[in-house]
Amino acid sequence: MNNKNKNKNVIITGCNGLIGLKLCQEISKKNINIFGIDFIDKKNISSDNFNFYNCDLTNENQVEKVIEEISKEVNNIDCLIHLAGIDYKVASKLKKNQLSLDHNSISSPKQVMQSINANIGMLYNIVYSLLPVFLKQKKSKIVLIGSVYGSVSPNPKLYIENNKKYFYQKPIEYTLSKSIFPSFAKYLCAHYSNQGLVINNLEPHAIINYPDKKFLENFKKLSPMERLCDVNEIVDLIIYLTISKCLYLNGETIKVDGGWSVL
Ligand SMILES: NC(=O)c1ccc[n+]([C@@H]2O[C@H](COP(=O)([O-])OP(=O)(O)OC[C@H]3O[C@@H](n4cnc5c(N)ncnc54)[C@H](O)[C@@H]3O)[C@@H](O)[C@H]2O)c1
Repeated sequence: MNNKNKNKNVIITGCNGLIGLKLCQEISKKNINIFGIDFIDKKNISSDNFNFYNCDLTNENQVEKVIEEISKEVNNIDCLIHLAGIDYKVASKLKKNQLSLDHNSISSPKQVMQSINANIGMLYNIVYSLLPVFLKQKKSKIVLIGSVYGSVSPNPKLYIENNKKYFYQKPIEYTLSKSIFPSFAKYLCAHYSNQGLVINNLEPHAIINYPDKKFLENFKKLSPMERLCDVNEIVDLIIYLTISKCLYLNGETIKVDGGWSVL
């Protein structure tokens, strides 16, 4: 038996993103084979147990093909970690006037539908292709990465300047796309946990490289922990859920927000 069948096999979507990259680096140190998927065509880590698949997850046919390829490679796919998504970070290198939405305006229906189609499409396509494989195996895990903005509204005060003008608004389409994650996890748990599926949804907050200065200042005032989340903190929890033997934690949405939503 080769290592791909002896070790755990994990699919990570969005493997080239901020969290994905760190997660792949950490998981590759364990006896786990990674099948990373991203539409940014870069094999970012050079480890024998890392396999990269360039795929646009919004494209159902491409996703189906990738899952077929991975299924031919290994006998068992132990876990799907779904990180891919369209994120909107307030990083200092982004020009505020390019990001900005007037406080009194709201995204157009076209913008909202495009973003929802992409974010929900990616999630649904990967789960739809993998579900038959998972149910056949009778043992599988899914770790979804939603967002705390799937459960609570973004706070507009995060984006206020000294002159009381707003320099940004977190787009409503982000909240709308992420708000389906908790119910998706519940639905899949309700219908498939008796066939060995364990699915949970994490709702992180504020993992940003090079945050905008004013954003950071506002964040420290509004957050109970007065700091952003370190990427290692979310990575640690994702790995725990991937390898944990506690299968009774199922269908849950867990906020990883430093207490942001308790206030
Ligand atoms: N960073 C945070 O503060 C934070 C907070 C809450 C939730 N999240 C969520 O966690 C997930 C990962 O966050 P991140 O900070 O690493 O984001 P990121 O933007 O750095 O990474 C997302 C990755 O998804 C990939 N992707 C996007 N569309 C794709 C597509 N159609 N097909 C294939 N790949 C695609 C991108 O290429 C990118 O590599 C996202 O879903 C994000 O919304 C992040």
